[in-house]
Amino acid sequence: KGSKLTITFKSQAEKVRIYYNSRPEASGLQWLTPEQTASKTHPFMYSQSQAIHARSWIPVQDTPAMRVTYSARIHTPEDVRAVMSADNKDALYKDGDYHFNMPQAISPYLIAIGAGNLEFKAMSKQTGIFAEPTILDASVAEFNDTQAMIDKTNAMYGEYAWGRYDLLMLPPSFPFGGMENPRLSFITPTVVAGDKSLVNLIAHELAHSWSGNLVTNATWEDLWLNEGFTSYVENRIMEEVFGRDRAVMEQALDAAGLRAQLKTIDAPDTRLNLKLNGRDPDDAFSSVPYTKGQLFLIYLEQKFGRDRFDAFVLEYFDSHAFQSLGTANFVKYLKANLTHKYPNIVSDEEVNEWIYKQGLPAYAPKPTSTAFSTIDQQISQWLTNKITLAQLPTVDWTLHEWLHFINNLPTDIKTERMAALDQTFDLTHSKNAEIAHAWYLLSVRAGYDVVYPAMSEYLVAIGRRKLIVPLYKELAQTEQGKAWAVNVYQKARPGYHGLAQGTIDGILNKE
Ligand code: BES
Ligand code: ZN
Repeated sequence: KGSKLTITFKSQAEKVRIYYNSRPEASGLQWLTPEQTASKTHPFMYSQSQAIHARSWIPVQDTPAMRVTYSARIHTPEDVRAVMSADNKDALYKDGDYHFNMPQAISPYLIAIGAGNLEFKAMSKQTGIFAEPTILDASVAEFNDTQAMIDKTNAMYGEYAWGRYDLLMLPPSFPFGGMENPRLSFITPTVVAGDKSLVNLIAHELAHSWSGNLVTNATWEDLWLNEGFTSYVENRIMEEVFGRDRAVMEQALDAAGLRAQLKTIDAPDTRLNLKLNGRDPDDAFSSVPYTKGQLFLIYLEQKFGRDRFDAFVLEYFDSHAFQSLGTANFVKYLKANLTHKYPNIVSDEEVNEWIYKQGLPAYAPKPTSTAFSTIDQQISQWLTNKITLAQLPTVDWTLHEWLHFINNLPTDIKTERMAALDQTFDLTHSKNAEIAHAWYLLSVRAGYDVVYPAMSEYLVAIGRRKLIVPLYKELAQTEQGKAWAVNVYQKARPGYHGLAQGTIDGILNKE
């Protein structure tokens, strides 16, 4: 994909210098007008190279099997600060001329740049945030556990290898939750909820500093080596910093999401070791590499015990640091260092089933939270009029309990009940992007039209694919819903990133 650059040498060259321009429509860059930013005063530009978009703005051998160091000199308007997935010392002085250096070898999908009306605030000696001034303080307050996360991860999986760890807050059109660009994770503003309820995203992007950036999937068919390990490590960090109850709730929500998604994905794409057959990796993107991968690792942890499994993972990261590997090589390593080393616990057949077979094994872990079981009971008591809404102990509910509650209401719930929920809790105007998402999805399914004006604003304001794509998909199920969605999309589309535009064009245009 893309096009080949062929250079013919008259004699053996030591260095090649390529002069080039990227195009305004390069798929790896989004150029935003001031109106599309938080502070509305300056333009913004950022890259998203994973999976195969580095090649759209840099002539590079764009495979995660390869590693490069890089340096860059970036010119901007004087009041626009630039940052990169590199040494950002020079970015502390805003003067329109920046030098960056990344001395550690990284795969090309991790080369990243951002530029805009950015200020910097330190959170600790090692961590800080670049953000537009209007969202800087709220972001610092939300993410001030980042250093604690690093410290806990160091203790479990070996010393953080990259020096500084900073965050870059992106405009709301960023199509992902986060991107693990080395030394500088890119973060969606939709996780600044005011109560740290969505900070597992930071644990996730930080975890990639071990699984992904240090030990890298060799091809995009091995994405689960990046994302499955990272989802597992993310949850271990959450357990360390926020406790076991919250960590298990997050496991249970993700596992429920996976089980629902498995019904909608093409069966061959439910294998951990994907087969892309020439497709853009984006077209096989799902929660399979994430959550099925995580469940596999939880399964191994439960079978071998934490002590042995933690030692295995630590040694895996250490022995493969700054290398790329594929699934087959991982399986070889897994057998030699875990499943054959401690025999008769997990068989080769079981390992093969997890990695090469479709769907979830019957014996996959089923994370269960007692808080969630309580909510299941309360839902059925409310639906059978044994308790009233006022009797639900919602003042003590965390985000996770709210999500479990909304996700487990019946999709044929009566609109009077939806209205009653809204009257009591005003879910239609929830400031939490995940709660609003879950509520709108249920509302579309249940035919509760009251949410449409608020949902329209949401779809125009936010470009994060995970939050908007399921809504467009659900709306497209009915003719009326689709007509409404097409109308909203007309307004929203210019603000979306090309990746989101591509996905939603596909949903709304295919007849
Ligand atoms: N590396 C991914 C984003 C990605 C994956 C981009 C594949 C392109 C191709 C990032 O670390 C990620 O997984 N983000 C999630 C975080 C969530 C699971 C906590 C997201 O964006 O939602
Ligand atoms: Zn990830």
